[in-house]
Amino acid sequence: MDLRIKSFEEYQAKYKQSVDQPEQFWSEVADHYQWQSPWGQVLDWNFKEPNVKWFLNAKLNITENCLDRHVETRGDQTAILWESNFPDRDNIRLSYTQLHAEVCRAANALKSMGVKKGDRICLYMPMIPELAISVLACARIGAIHSVVFAGFSAQALADRINDATCNVVITSDGLYRGAKQVGLKSIVDEALQQCDSIEHVLVKKCTGEDIGWSEGRDQWWDDIVPQQSATCAAEVMDSEDPLFILYTSGSTGKPKGVVHTCGGYMVYAGYSFANVFQYEEGDIYWCTADIGWITGHSYIIYGPLLNGATTMMFEGVPTWPDAGRFWQIVEKHKVNQFYTAPTAIRALMSCGNDVVTPYDLSSLKVLGTVGEPINQEAWDWYKQMIGKGTVPIVDTWWQTETGGIMISGLGGHSPQQATFAGYPLPGIQPCLVDTEGNEITENGVEGLLCMKFPWPSILRTTYGDHERCRITYFSHYNDMYFTGDGARRDENGMYRIIGRVDDVINVSGHRFGTAEIENAINESEYVVESAVVGYPHDIKGQGIYAYVIQEKAPDDLEAAKKEIIATVVKEIGPIAKPDKIQFVSGLPKTRSGKIMRRILRKVAEGEPDKLGDTSTLLDPSVVDEIVGGAV
Ligand code: WTA
Repeated sequence: MDLRIKSFEEYQAKYKQSVDQPEQFWSEVADHYQWQSPWGQVLDWNFKEPNVKWFLNAKLNITENCLDRHVETRGDQTAILWESNFPDRDNIRLSYTQLHAEVCRAANALKSMGVKKGDRICLYMPMIPELAISVLACARIGAIHSVVFAGFSAQALADRINDATCNVVITSDGLYRGAKQVGLKSIVDEALQQCDSIEHVLVKKCTGEDIGWSEGRDQWWDDIVPQQSATCAAEVMDSEDPLFILYTSGSTGKPKGVVHTCGGYMVYAGYSFANVFQYEEGDIYWCTADIGWITGHSYIIYGPLLNGATTMMFEGVPTWPDAGRFWQIVEKHKVNQFYTAPTAIRALMSCGNDVVTPYDLSSLKVLGTVGEPINQEAWDWYKQMIGKGTVPIVDTWWQTETGGIMISGLGGHSPQQATFAGYPLPGIQPCLVDTEGNEITENGVEGLLCMKFPWPSILRTTYGDHERCRITYFSHYNDMYFTGDGARRDENGMYRIIGRVDDVINVSGHRFGTAEIENAINESEYVVESAVVGYPHDIKGQGIYAYVIQEKAPDDLEAAKKEIIATVVKEIGPIAKPDKIQFVSGLPKTRSGKIMRRILRKVAEGEPDKLGDTSTLLDPSVVDEIVGGAV
């Protein structure tokens, strides 16, 4: 299956075709995959309800495209190359034949536990091969996987399990992250005190630490999986059957379960991987994300395996045992495509060049970034220090909701400009609108980034609450999907993403809703009210700044801050810890009671002289106190 576009001219022609004849275009792409039975209609859609269906009534199983097909043609090639947290431990290489067998065993084990098509399975696991195997095992039998990043707290895990009423959790005893060892099973045990739907917990041994055990509910992976048969018929899935749920934060309420379906997601994940990374036969591809996020789903597991690639999975962290770890691994495995986040680039850049120069990075052919806007300095360093000035950078803009990369260069085939994601992939029709929802058609402008036309891997719904999906993404502007991002389009039509325009903060490439963090802070005993905003942070992109009102001003500031941080860690996880906390006696509210976040943002950004009009505030005097007490 070679889906690759091989020049900018070809891109332009394909792009035009994809807009003029989208159904024709996508059915030609979809023809590259194996279907059990073909589609009738290619596309049925409206953005009102919304209702989007691709490849209607076609039948398939994504794992036949990720595995079976390659077993026949490249069975001995490495599918997953796993690099341990510990540099001196052996790699694990799973060939396509071996991965196929492992996936079938895990699928049979799930079946033996009574798992059926449509059941929801929660995966709360380290970056070990069994995580990828479990994802594919669910897909094999038509169970819907819901991967929860193993840095989330017991409370966050319980919320996600309950929202999707999962009946099985797959986890491990613990995990390694650099020098740290973290218990996972203990977090699952705590979460499950609040979850009635879970019948089975499957536990992979990873760290060997002591864990609690619930007889009848808990089972060791190694006791039941290895003995299963290495064949398992792939469940017949409709194109529009759900493949997975992945929770993501928005500007209001609790995280939503974004639902992706089998056919469209498969077509787009495979197509975008082939084109953005320009993967060639025999290459070693490495994406450093965690499978707990969409990047890991689409570009560690599905995209690469659909293309018969060798995809690397790394258990560890970039800075342990030292800040040269990424580059040491690139040299060791002669990595050809390397895909990471700007926050990692900035963190490594700050460690100096001495940890980079010892390594031979000449294997690199494409460098990618994802998750947040990349600043010029980080882009330059990535290009010069890692890419030696010659390796193309693809700045890939996309979202959990889009399922795959939407705006990006295609390897070295696209014009490059630092900090610009560039042009849309074929089939993607972005537009900029003003705050009234009018499309801005000229170039050299800024606006709100929307999509005018569906693509195969657009989210179909938010689990259990379709109305929420409609309101969040399809109600702002008529007949458009609203991304929540602001963007600039330059004179040549290239897009530069500016960042979120809603109440979502992007911390180290992780999305949090301000309301979500505020709700967590408000669980703290003495807190009356809080307001959270983002502010520019050198490494994380954005930091979290919390304004907190307590019943009475705290005597011991440090102790009060610690208590609030501990509450956020308990409610969400360490990744959502506020970087700065300011205690205030009031928040700037309008007469109708709405918090004027603009003021809080300006203070957090260190620009108290740019507050703008404050005359509509109920009590303008709170502003002086907030400015005076800024931290
Ligand atoms: C931001 C991650 C600038 C953006 C795949 C988007 C980016 C949100 C880029 C989605 C990029 C992602 N340049 N900003 N290349 N990629 N973003 O759902 O604000 O975790 O809306 O998906 O990250 O985050 P999510």
